This record gives sequence, structure tokens and C-alpha cells, in this order.
Amino acid sequence: MSMRTLAFKALLFLVLCQAGQQGLASASEQREPPKKIAIVGAGIGGTSAAYFLRQEFGPSVKIDVYEAGTVGGRLATENIDGHDYETGGSLIHPLNLHMKHFVDRLGLSFRAGVPSKMAIFDGKGLMFEESDWFIVNFLRMLWHYGFNSLRMHMWVEGILDKVMRIYQYQQFGYSFSSVERLLHAMGGDEVLALLNQTLEEAMLAQGFSQAFINEIVTPISRSVALSCADSGLWAVDGGNKRVCSGLLYHSKAELIPARVTNIAIKTRPSKSGTIANFYEVNYVGDSGSAHSLYDIVVLATPLHQGLSDISFSGFSPSLPSHFPGAYHQIVTTLVLGRLNVSYLDARRNPSEFFVSDILMTENENLGIASLNFLDPVHITPGYSRPPASQPAVWKVYSTEPLTEEQLRMLFVSRERVVEKSWLACPSYRAPERQAPSFILHHNLYYLNPIEWAASSMEMSALSARNAALLASHRWHGDTSKVDQEDLHARLRGEL
Ligand SMILES: Cc1cc2nc3c(=O)[nH]c(=O)nc-3n(C[C@H](O)[C@H](O)[C@H](O)COP(=O)(O)OP(=O)(O)OC[C@H]3O[C@@H](n4cnc5c(N)ncnc54)[C@H](O)[C@@H]3O)c2cc1C
Ligand SMILES: *[C@@H]1O[C@H](CO)[C@@H](O)[C@H](O)[C@H]1NC(C)=O
Ligand SMILES: *[C@@H]1O[C@H](CO)[C@@H](O)[C@H](O)[C@H]1NC(C)=O
Repeated sequence: MSMRTLAFKALLFLVLCQAGQQGLASASEQREPPKKIAIVGAGIGGTSAAYFLRQEFGPSVKIDVYEAGTVGGRLATENIDGHDYETGGSLIHPLNLHMKHFVDRLGLSFRAGVPSKMAIFDGKGLMFEESDWFIVNFLRMLWHYGFNSLRMHMWVEGILDKVMRIYQYQQFGYSFSSVERLLHAMGGDEVLALLNQTLEEAMLAQGFSQAFINEIVTPISRSVALSCADSGLWAVDGGNKRVCSGLLYHSKAELIPARVTNIAIKTRPSKSGTIANFYEVNYVGDSGSAHSLYDIVVLATPLHQGLSDISFSGFSPSLPSHFPGAYHQIVTTLVLGRLNVSYLDARRNPSEFFVSDILMTENENLGIASLNFLDPVHITPGYSRPPASQPAVWKVYSTEPLTEEQLRMLFVSRERVVEKSWLACPSYRAPERQAPSFILHHNLYYLNPIEWAASSMEMSALSARNAALLASHRWHGDTSKVDQEDLHARLRGEL
């Protein structure tokens, strides 16, 4: 698997800041607030949109959230042997400030941390095994790869610094109409250029050695690509999807369990004599098909084959049901069983094997990306991970379902196997095609183009906040907070 634009995708995942604060209310409040808003999709994107739209438009607007499957979307859990385990989006980085804010605001907590140990498997043996000692890891890296690892750290920090600016912009109420404009506002051409470069290209241009890229960066980014995200430290106690249900409740939105099939434009004369535009949302639920009219609609699901199937009528120019580009498959296989340690390292005694996260290099021939010890969504006091000689729940990421032969190679015994297949995130191909605008029509917004920059819970929340700001500014005819350039310099003056 290639590792397109991953530097950037991984970095964005690390993104931070406190957007919790109320966005500054728009100055021009002459127009009545909208009466009804529809959101399609109750994943983290749709539910955070409900939260931020409530913040922007106040208590009077009615917010309906349509969900065809289950609340949480790509955040989901599976019960094995009495405990729940994450099967979809799992890790939250401490710099993911929107997610952090939600967890605080909803009275949830982060799951207790369990120390983990990472190693890289190249098909023959374990190449780089982390020690419990940070300094040992650091010195080993330095010894092996010279200053590459230190430089990488600094390079990443430099980009991160810029990426983090988005929180400040949002706090001041600024919004962007497209992914490109949003990235450009963060770090100018330098950040924007990362969108259409492969990580390898970007790093070679920065003078990193090919060996370092092949041996360290590639395996990490492969697993990052497969999990859509960098490994982080946190997960929500009780399951990440609790954030979604919490946001729905907190925003006083109504959940409509139905599949949206069509969105049509309707016009109606208004009291003042002008013609008003409405969106008619057609949907199919348990009690048959129905429709409702809305002032504003937010689409919070990828509009791609296999992920949603919504037709649009009456729009000019017309809107497609599916945008170009595909989402790639990730298969999550949870196995309750005993790991075949001799497959990874013939000489190792399983009762002394405590590596919890094993990344596979491209040489590895089983066709799997990573193998991770999986902790339950709730960690009880006194919990500790057993050595590999005992049965435990392991999570295997692969692009295709695992065969019996693969499973037999990886595990010496299996008590339970649960497989979940996802169309997980966009198949990034550099150079990126242009992601669609966040604005599909006057008051019709689309969150998921953000995934073409990076696909993570935080990015969905960030896009939701952006769309809520956009919707509010545009509703009130205030263009001063949309697509502004040079914000970094200007805000420095304002602070
Ligand atoms: C295996 C895996 C591992 C991942 N790991 C991480 C991780 O560690 N950290 C991280 O931050 N991110 C991770 N991600 C990515 C993260 O899960 C997603 O980026 C995020 O959950 C996307 O949320 P969303 O709300 O934008 O979309 P979704 O969660 O896909 O929500 C869209 C919702 O819309 C609904 N819907 C679709 N069409 C219709 C319709 N017509 N009518 C009504 N409802 C409809 C769907 O049922 C779905 O519930 C991972 C993803 C996967 C699959
Ligand atoms: C990437 O995009 C930028 C600006 O959009 C452009 O100037 C640059 O040439 C592109 N780089 C590559 C490698 O395509
Ligand atoms: C475990 O791995 C070894 C070494 O690759 C392999 O020979 C064996 O078949 C695997 N499976 C079991 C059940 O031991």
C-alpha cells in the first residue's frame, strides 16, 4: 500500500484546540433565525453539527437528525465475552481539542491509560521493539537512524503548529467554504502542498534518508492509513460512540431513524412577499416514506458509492448522488484467542511476550497491516494485560477478510472471532482531485470533503464546527467571516 499524503493526514489527526467557547455571535442579526434544520447522518460529524448549530442558532430552531443505521456511524463497539471493544474509530489524540471538549462537556471521561509497547514486524522477525524506557527507545532510534528521527520530530512540530491555528480561527468565528481554503488559511502554500504530495516525496524533499522512510515511516504510516489515524493515547470510557449520543441529547435534536432518499428544492412565497427556498427531505423509515421541509440541510455522510445513496432534484447546476473518488475497505477482525508468538519471533517465550502493538512492513506476506492487543472500552481498576501465553482479544487490521489459513498462522487458539468490514476512509491518490466545496447550495452544506485532507473523529468535528459557522454567517448575510486570508497575521494583531 502506498502512503499518500500521510504526513499531513497523520498530522491533522494530532490537531488540537479549544473550540468549546461560544463563537462570537454575528454582528448582523437582522434576519429571523431558521425554523428547521435537517442533518443527515448521526456519526460524530452529524452529531457535532447538531451541537454547534444549536450553539449558533439558539434554542428556538428545530433540529432533526436522520440516521439510517446506528448512532455513532463509524464509531461502533462489539461485545465479546461480556466486554465491549471498539471496532471502528478508536483513538483520540490529546491535541484533538474538539473531542476533548465534548468529553468534558458531556460529563464523559477518557478511558484509563494502559502502557503499550510497539514493535515492527518485517515478515522475518521483530525489527524495532520499544523498550519500557523512553530514553532507551530514543537512543536506539538515534543510533540506528542518525538525526532523522529528531529532525522528523521537529518537522512534525513545525507543521503541527500551523495546523493548530484552525482552532483559533474557529474561536473567532471564521469559516471556510472548501478544504483547500481551510488548509491554506492554516499554513499557506506549504500546508496546502502536502495535500497533493506523497509523504515520501515530502520527506525526501526535506532531506530524510530513504532507509529511515522505508523502515520507520512506512510501517507507521501504513497502519495509520489503515486505521485512518495516528496512534494516540485516549479513547472514551464506555465507547467513543457515547460522544455521539451525548451530543444529540445535549443539542436537543430529534433523532429520526430513517434513510434519506432524496432532497428537493421547493419554493414558497414568504410573508414579506419574496420567494423563500426550502429543502424537502424525503425519507424512508419503519412506518414508510415521508418528507419534511427545512431551511438548512447539513449532509454528514460521505456521498460515495456504498456509503449513501441520496438523489437531489431541482438543483441547478445539478448535484450528483455520488462524488468522484472511492472509500477503501478496512476489515477489523477481533479475535479472542492466544497469539502465535513463534510466528513473530521463533525464539520468544510467549509468557514473556508483552508487545501490544505490532506494525507490519510491506515485506510481511500475510497481507495484514497491524496486530493490536485490544483493551475493553472500560478499564476496571487493577486491569493489566496478560502475557501472550494467555488468551486475550487481539485486533487485526487488513484490507481483505482474513482467511482460515491466516488466522491459523497468527493464533494458536481461537475462542471467538468477530469480523467487521468498513468502507473506512478515502483512497488517497496523489495528486488529490479537488475535494467538493462544503457548500453544495445556498443553505445546503456537506461535511465530509474534509476527509480528503484527513479522516478522523476530530476532523469531522472540525468540519461540523466550520459548517455551523458558515451556515450562520451566510444565513445572516455576513461575508466578513468567510474565506478570509492572512488570518494568522490579523489575529495576532487582535490578541
Ligand atoms: C476501522 C476504523 C478505524 C478508525 N480509527 C480511527 C481512530 O483511531 N481515530 C480517529 O479519530 N478516527 C478513526 N477512524 C475514522 C473515524 O471513525 C471517522 O473519520 C469518523 O467516525 C467519521 O464520522 P462521520 O460522522 O463523518 O461519518 P460516519 O461515522 O460514517 O457517519 C455517517 C452516518 O450517516 C448515516 N447515513 C448515511 N447515509 C444516510 C442516509 N441516506 N440517511 C440517513 N443516514 C445516513 C450512516 O449510517 C452513518 O451513521 C477510523 C475508522 C475506521 C472505519
Ligand atoms: C501541489 O499543489 C500546489 C498548489 O496547489 C502546486 O503549486 C504544486 O505544484 C503541486 N505539487 C505537486 C507535487 O503536484
Ligand atoms: C505459528 O507460527 C509458526 C512459525 O511461522 C508456524 O510454523 C505455525 O504453523 C503457526 N501456527 C501454529 C498453530 O503454531
